[in-house]
Amino acid sequence: MPLQIVRNDITKIECDAIVNAANSTLLGGGGVDGAIHKAAGGGLLLECMRLGGCRTGQAKITGGYNLPCKYVIHTVGPKWKGGHNGEKELLESCYRESLKLAKEYNCGSVAFPLISSGVYGYPKAPALKVAMDVISSFLLENDMLVYMVIFDKAAYQISEKLFSEIKSYIDDRYVDRHRDARLERMRAVQMSQPLYGMERVHPQAASLPTAAQKPLDLESALGTIDESFSEMLLRKIDEKGMTDSQCYKKANVDRKLFSKIRSDVHYHPSKTTAIAFAIALELSLEETKDMLMKAGFALSHSNKFDIIIEYFITNSNYNVFEINEALFAFDQSLLGA
Ligand code: APR
Repeated sequence: MPLQIVRNDITKIECDAIVNAANSTLLGGGGVDGAIHKAAGGGLLLECMRLGGCRTGQAKITGGYNLPCKYVIHTVGPKWKGGHNGEKELLESCYRESLKLAKEYNCGSVAFPLISSGVYGYPKAPALKVAMDVISSFLLENDMLVYMVIFDKAAYQISEKLFSEIKSYIDDRYVDRHRDARLERMRAVQMSQPLYGMERVHPQAASLPTAAQKPLDLESALGTIDESFSEMLLRKIDEKGMTDSQCYKKANVDRKLFSKIRSDVHYHPSKTTAIAFAIALELSLEETKDMLMKAGFALSHSNKFDIIIEYFITNSNYNVFEINEALFAFDQSLLGA
């Protein structure tokens, strides 16, 4: 999964580079800056002292010292002054310049904190949106594993409007697993009682082959097997006029996994991977259910993850990174692989 949102302390992330939300002196401070300097040890500060500071929106790179990473990329986010002083453009530049440095230093993986969303006061939801937009467009052109590291879940916010819309969508549909099971049991009991004067036909009876319908022998049954998940995926990519890489990047799926799926007609993906491809192909809800069924899955209203997916598809929002922001906010697993 090229872009992952994870809850962790960034100083614990083992990757090629971690990004520090520094100030223009680069001489340390509080928040994530303080945590990184503390974990890296004095060598980091000594190197930073030789860098001569850093302008807002720019980035500079040092060694990782005692941190479990090779490099630290220091970037200076904008202080929030109401949003009409170029804050968004400066914050976009922080992510862009940091990714550029990570690429220049051949980093295969990089971890970001939510820059400017702490001491610098940038509102969390817009700060997250800037981060996801810049990182996801970088990943359309580049192969890298990027972690968006959220330190405290309370500080993690998607837009109020989106959160409450999804919440009411779930509340209207979420069928409690226990209540649902009880209903099923009651229905099963009713089904077994013949109705007065009418023999209740067992629901399966209609589909059992009658004498007229000769039961299919296994040979011919197997001969009528449907197209597989990967056959449908490749057919849909062609129908949509997409390239393979456009599809798997939009699905937040890495290249290696895609080539496995492409080369194995019977490949069985995970449910989140199957849905990620349905989203990347911008399938309708019906087509999504069809594609899922070919991988052996279904969407259900006793599963919040499925209801959130249904919400985005019915609202024609196929941005897998935005969907992942919402899934993370509702403590669900993320789309992609
Ligand atoms: N790991 C990951 N994220 C963290 C950690 C950590 N150990 N500590 C804090 N954060 C998160 C905060 O929750 C916030 O969401 O990092 C985000 C950025 O917050 P700050 O660290 O306050 O950075 P910023 O808002 O960019 O302000 C920068 O603060 O620390 C000083 O020297 C720094 O002056 C600079 C200013």
